[in-house]
This record gives sequence, C-alpha cells and structure tokens, in this order.
Amino acid sequence: MPSAHVFNSGPESVVYTTSNGAPYPEPYEAQRVHVGNKQIGSALLLQDFHHIDLLAHFDRERIPERVVHAKGGGAHGVFEATHDISDLSCAKLFEVGKKTPLTLRFSTVGGESGSADTARDPRGFAIKMRTEEGNLDWVFNNTPIFFLRDPAKFPHFIHTQKRDPQTHLKDNDMFWDYLSQNPESVHQVMILMGDRGIPKGHAFQHGYSGHTFKFVNDKGEWQYVQIHVRSDQGVDFYTQEDGVKLAGENPDIHNAELFEQIEQGKFPSWTVSVQTMTQQQAEQFRHSVFDLTKVWPHAEYPLRPVGKITLNKNPENYFAEIEQVAFSPSHLVPGIEPSADPVLQSRLFSYPDTHRHRLGVNYQQIPVNAPLVPVANFQRDGFMTVNGNQGNRPNYQSLIKPLQYSKRNTVSATHEQLAAAQINNFLSQVDDKDFEQPRALWEKVFDDSAKSRFINNISGHLGGCKSKEIQQRQLKVFQRVHPDIASRIGEKIGVTV
Ligand code: HEM
Repeated sequence: MPSAHVFNSGPESVVYTTSNGAPYPEPYEAQRVHVGNKQIGSALLLQDFHHIDLLAHFDRERIPERVVHAKGGGAHGVFEATHDISDLSCAKLFEVGKKTPLTLRFSTVGGESGSADTARDPRGFAIKMRTEEGNLDWVFNNTPIFFLRDPAKFPHFIHTQKRDPQTHLKDNDMFWDYLSQNPESVHQVMILMGDRGIPKGHAFQHGYSGHTFKFVNDKGEWQYVQIHVRSDQGVDFYTQEDGVKLAGENPDIHNAELFEQIEQGKFPSWTVSVQTMTQQQAEQFRHSVFDLTKVWPHAEYPLRPVGKITLNKNPENYFAEIEQVAFSPSHLVPGIEPSADPVLQSRLFSYPDTHRHRLGVNYQQIPVNAPLVPVANFQRDGFMTVNGNQGNRPNYQSLIKPLQYSKRNTVSATHEQLAAAQINNFLSQVDDKDFEQPRALWEKVFDDSAKSRFINNISGHLGGCKSKEIQQRQLKVFQRVHPDIASRIGEKIGVTV
C-alpha cells in the first residue's frame, strides 16, 4: 500500500494542486462564464471542483476544542532513563540509558483556545512517550493535588470555573459558590492563589501525577508510586499584576517563549523521580493514597530519581502535532498500572471517550498518536481508517495466529479486594484532617511575602463576589485552615466571619 506523501518542505519545492493532486495553474482563479467583456460579475460554475473544494474544506477547518485545557502549546523531545528502577517496574522505557521519543503539551485549564497564557489557573503537563511496548501517556498537572476526590463533582466544578449559562461571562460568585461548599478543594485553592498560580513560562514549572499509580516489576511485585517531573530551570512565577498586564499585551507569551527557546537550542529539561509506598505503608498512611487532595510528605517518602525529559524539537505543524495529540491516563504499558483512585478510574474512561468525539474513533491512527510499534488487534474499519486497516490479518481471534505476550502475568493483584466488597453509593466527607496539609502550606512553605501575595490574590478575586453569604462561607473554610487567613482576607474585603 503506498504511503501518504507528507509536505514538510518549503513552498518553493511543491507544485500547487487540487486536493486530488492534479496540478492547477493559479490558486486565486475560479472558473467563470464570461458574458460580453465584463471582468467582474460573470457567473461561477458548479463544475469547478478546485473552487468548491477550497470553500468546502475551509468551512470544515475547525474541530471541537478540548472541553477543558483548550489553550496549550507543546514540543517534542526525549525521555532518557538515568537510574535503575527494575526492582520497581519492568517497563522497558526505564532500562538505564534507553531514550524514548515523546511529545509534551502544556495547557491552562479553564480558558478557551485563544485565552491568555498568564491566566491564574492550574496547568496541564501531558506527555506521550512512544515506547517499544506501545505509547505511555502521563496526563499530569503542575500541582501535586487537585480540587476534588469524588469524580462526579468534576463537570459541576468545571462549569463553575467557566461561563455563566445566561451572561456567558466568567462569574466570581459561581467560582466561590462551588469552592466554599466543597472545602476539600482548599489545598488546591491555596496553591492556585499562591505563587504557583501563574508560572513564568512552560519551562518554569513542575509536573505531578497527582494520582497514585502502581509500578509492577517482572516478578509481579508492586508498589504505589507518585511521579514527579521537576523543572531543571527551577520554578518561577508572575505576580497577579504582571499576569493581568501580559494577558493584554502578549496573551501567547508562554507558547512564544517555548518556541523561541527551542529554536535557539536552549532545550528545557525536567528530572523525573518517584515516591514509593508499599501496600503495608499505604495501610498505615495518615490519609488514603487514593485521595487526590493529599500529598505524600517528602521527609517520609523521599524522591527517587528515574530519568530526564528534554524538549528539543518544535512541531512542524501545530494542528497535526499538538492540536490532534490525544493523551489518556489509560494509555499505559506493562509495568505501570492505575491505582483504585476513583478520580483516576473515571479519567481512564473520560479521555478516550472525548477523543472519539473530538478526533474520531480512529484517533490512535493519527500520526502524532500512532505508536511506533505495530498495532495488532481485532479493531477494524470506522471513519478515517488510514493505516491500511491491518491488511489481510484475520479480523477475529484465530487459532492459526494466536497473539502472545510474555508479560501477561505482571498485572498486579488488587489491594482493594473488590470481589469481596459491597457496592454502595459513596460521597467523601470533609473532616479536620483535610485542613492539615493546607495549614502546613501556610505555616511552613509560604514566607511572609508569599503570604501577602496570597492574601492579595484571594481578596482580589473573592472581593469580586456579589454574595456576602458566599464570601462568608469561603472565609469559614479558610478559618479552618488558619484563623489568620480568614481575618486578613476578611479585613481586605470588608466581611467578618
Ligand atoms: C484534559 C477530563 C481530572 C489533567 C481533559 C479533557 C477531559 C478531561 C475530557 C479534554 C481532553 C481532550 O479533549 O483531549 C477530566 C476528568 C477529570 C479530570 C473527567 C476528573 C474526574 C484531571 C486531573 C488531571 C488532569 C486530576 C491531572 C492530574 C488533564 C490534562 C489535560 C486534560 C493535562 C490536557 C491534555 C492535553 O494537553 O491534551 N481532562 N480530567 N485532569 N486533563 Fe483532565
């Protein structure tokens, strides 16, 4: 089967053609019926495929933008394994010295595709690694925790951070109404409203799995892990004032700077490390390892280095290589497994589902998503089958050519013993333990000037609420973190708890 020709050379080297490849003399021309000598106003012809195809294709240029994380930019690079972790995981990409090609996309969460890079928002940090055992996606954020731990809250939460259904405006009341009624969000709110809320650029932020995953070794033994991708450039931030100013002056600053850095050969890099916990440690841990609102203290669970990520190549074509890239936490390889974190479990479903909607059922065949290794299974046909449809290989499991894979037995036993458990409807409840880590952030991590910026950032946003009731409710949440936070914000916005 002939392979499609990819145009990636300059315009001087190609002949202008119609979409079926026929040479055509002049892109601006259209076939017309000339009546008399009139140059303008003569009739167009339906037979003019060139002209009709041009307009029809233009009419269909936009695909749905991502429902969240719509604004983003990215680049290609490499993951190099630097430290032996074979006792933890049998994934081949972790063999020391191995280099795995990757694509990485940074994004903001709430804004539309054209929104400003310097919005105060968590950042997406999604990596697709093309390993010899298939594609591994790490769909991370730049914060080690998240706003929720009950996945059914996610669409509600996102709606409140986007636009009001009537006014189509962002709405501070909606924003804080949700957060104040769901206080498990306060840890992430404090990171969002602190200095990490507006990174100085894509290169100046860390990425975190947030969720607990499982690493499984070749004996089938497993441990829980949290994955950290720490910036070698260090972490830097814009103040609220700078962020607002740049949103007007240069809304694409982060994407522009990343592109420029890579063009100049100043390749940004990150060090990949893991925290690990055995099943026994997890059972004794103060919090659930499946609670996405909690971190694992580094003093008890130190970082263990794994490898390095370097971005060294800009995309040739943004749409093909960044807009069409489709990440999913369920794109895993042998040796890495999901944990029972319910938010992670929901995400395992949600991403391939949204890709089928946004890019089509054969999204894995789009070149940026296609694994470098051959795909062999019994999926066939569907819109936009472009990879030869697995040729003449049987389209059902046939005893003549059984598919075999030696690592089948590495899938780990479940800690959760789901088979014996009862099924019930569950919603987590907030208790005092939920405020311990946010309190440590305030008392031990923020210095005095970081505290002042945090108070100003919150007061600016919460002060924009029209409802005193919502403001008071959120101050009560902060009071449970630390009374100073509530009183300092209360004083600034003229509200007492
Ligand atoms: C993007 C769903 C939580 C990280 C998305 C998209 C959906 C989604 C539908 C759009 C994907 C696309 O169109 O390509 C959810 C759901 C969640 C959840 C249902 C919780 C129940 C999280 C969490 C993280 C995260 C906890 C990080 C730890 C990302 C990233 C992207 C994304 C990085 C952008 C990927 C890209 O660059 O294409 N999410 N999400 N999400 N999500 Fe989530």
